[in-house]
Amino acid sequence: MTTDSNEKNQGLQNQGLQNQGLQNQGLQNKTLGQVAAGAAGESEAATTRTSFTLRSLLKMVRGGEKFACLTCYDATTARWLQAAGLHVLLVGDTAGEVILGFPNTMHTPLDFLVALTAGVKRGAPATLVMADMPFMSYQADDAEAIRNAGRFMTEGLADLVKLEVDRSFAGLVAKMSRAGIPVVAHIGSRPQHVKMHGGYYAAGKSADTAVALLDDARAMVEAGATMLLIEAAPAEVAEQIVRESTVPVIGCGAGSSCHGQVVVLQDLLGMSTWQPAFALPTAQIGGQIMAAAKVWMDRVKSGQLGEHPYVMNDTQRTVFHETLKRRDVSHERVEPKQ
Ligand code: KIV
Repeated sequence: MTTDSNEKNQGLQNQGLQNQGLQNQGLQNKTLGQVAAGAAGESEAATTRTSFTLRSLLKMVRGGEKFACLTCYDATTARWLQAAGLHVLLVGDTAGEVILGFPNTMHTPLDFLVALTAGVKRGAPATLVMADMPFMSYQADDAEAIRNAGRFMTEGLADLVKLEVDRSFAGLVAKMSRAGIPVVAHIGSRPQHVKMHGGYYAAGKSADTAVALLDDARAMVEAGATMLLIEAAPAEVAEQIVRESTVPVIGCGAGSSCHGQVVVLQDLLGMSTWQPAFALPTAQIGGQIMAAAKVWMDRVKSGQLGEHPYVMNDTQRTVFHETLKRRDVSHERVEPKQ
């Protein structure tokens, strides 16, 4: 995101999102909250939907229907996404980048992610919530990994946990499933391995690595994974995994054959400096935030803050002013002593 104010202004002008732009859209007599409330009303039916569970998702997949997943890190956004009818919300370790501003997901703290997961589930109780297990919360020791996954399920109210794995994690995935923890096995590109590759990378682009990816998928399903998530892999490799898999497959840059798709919400909303080609923005919320902030700055400057909600009744006002007068007199008496 550019910090140059001229460029920012230019960007707003291009998007027609300046104060003037808001007025042109007929929003001048409404607070942004009222605009939002109107939209919420329209999707009331979706808000009151019955719980979307793992069983609902399996039914969709069996019926050949695609499901949609987005990342989400807070209760307010979760409420809106549930109102939209989203099937799955992923509290991704990308929270470390998106919320905390770290350069990659390796820094995302466990406690922080557990707390965010609970917030998302409280905001979207009728939506399937998947929690991402962060770096070093499951790699060092199986018992610790199971306990941490358990925290996501209990404290974090998660419905599923996601782990970045290859077939060497089959034993852990089996233990977790035995413990009653539904595991989403994230295979292919593993962002928690960013330092091993010197940057983000795609998986399965050579015949050898493609076959290795198929083997990872098979091992995870055999170990008891509830779902697979394939990140950044060629479409034909993902297609083969979907063909062979007995569990739902979510794609994140893995082509359209996957049963479900996930992207980072901020990419989709046009709030990121860069987003992958498979997550092109469907909105320009970044620009709208800037426009809304400018409206607020104008209001602060002009003192036009809307109707003031806190008022005194007439009796209290009279008493208040009489008290002030008495204080003024006593104040005058005190002054000469200084
Ligand atoms: O943490 C995350 O956001 C993810 C996805 C984008 C798959 O793991």
